[in-house]
Amino acid sequence: DLGGYRYYMQKEIFEQPRAVADTLLDVNSIMPELFGDGAWRVFNGIDSVLLLACGGSYHAALTAKYWIESLAGLPASVEIASEFRYRDSVANPKTLVVAVSQSGETADVLGAVHVAKRLGMVNTLAICNVPTSALVRECALNFMTRAGIEIGVASTKAFTTQLVALFLLTLTLAQIRGRLSDEEERRHLHALRHLPDAMGKVLALEPQIMGWSETLTRKENILFLGRGMHFPIALEGALKMKEISYIHAEAYAAGELKHGPLALVSDEMPVVAVAPNDRLLEKLRSNMHEVSARNGRLFVFADVDCGLVSSPGVSVIRLNEYYGPLSPILHTLPVQLLAFHAALARGTDIDKPRNLAKSVTVE
Ligand code: M6R
Repeated sequence: DLGGYRYYMQKEIFEQPRAVADTLLDVNSIMPELFGDGAWRVFNGIDSVLLLACGGSYHAALTAKYWIESLAGLPASVEIASEFRYRDSVANPKTLVVAVSQSGETADVLGAVHVAKRLGMVNTLAICNVPTSALVRECALNFMTRAGIEIGVASTKAFTTQLVALFLLTLTLAQIRGRLSDEEERRHLHALRHLPDAMGKVLALEPQIMGWSETLTRKENILFLGRGMHFPIALEGALKMKEISYIHAEAYAAGELKHGPLALVSDEMPVVAVAPNDRLLEKLRSNMHEVSARNGRLFVFADVDCGLVSSPGVSVIRLNEYYGPLSPILHTLPVQLLAFHAALARGTDIDKPRNLAKSVTVE
């Protein structure tokens, strides 16, 4: 049932506040038991985290690396599951292996978890949207996102609920390591509970975003830029754009611009910048100047009070607030909407993009 929407992806984008609220339904406080019986013992014995995933879920895992290292003070690494499973790696039995997968049936993620276990890394946690999936059976611990069934091949609500789950994991690890005061716990929980409202306000920016897609849809290439924990969001924006609009899109950590991609920038190469009001904004601003100086057309997703205004060649859409460490969740929504409207304007098969399947159960 499309409930008045034209596409499942569109419906699922707008379901995200509900999906996040549902995922948080039983979360009254931060505690290891959110991840299953015995989680305290497991979390207490680890010295690092290894996140394994594919596609969009890999971008959620990349975001979690920033959170875990910054808030929990634990070394975290992220690997594309298909790479990890076929390379020689150095096993650390004290690592928590976190497999992130909407479907829980992705062959490479299951394969990577098997390899990890074979190497003696038995502390496994699934972050998954399907309770009956193979991944949930395979892992010792789990946290179920409650996005509901996702039909659009391009993942939207599964991605943002994965981020919520990974943030809860970060807070739990921080707490176990004595890095989360009661006051901080209250503050983060308050921000999480307020997230569905904040997401609703971002989704209301749709008409402005639609305006941008008219220009972008005529282009064959788009560059996405981000820094810090918003670099993975730039990656996710580029992935969504490729998947459903078939516009070639690449994402770079903005600091990498000078190391190569700047050569591509011209008036034919629009640049989308994910530019929240965090401590990296000044750095990103100088990267944006580099783009403008080469006649690159900038499309900037910023926050209120950022001091960025639209000018010739620079279009700015501002989110209503800067949302601290949870900002990547809010900044995901505009890049989803941008891809959706670009695809809509191009008349692609949005829910079933060519050559792609919802669940990649074979290699
Ligand atoms: O079910 P999974 O989360 O394991 O799926 C991983 C990827 O196949 C998936 O995220 C894919 O990249 C999506 N189509 C992204 O929109």
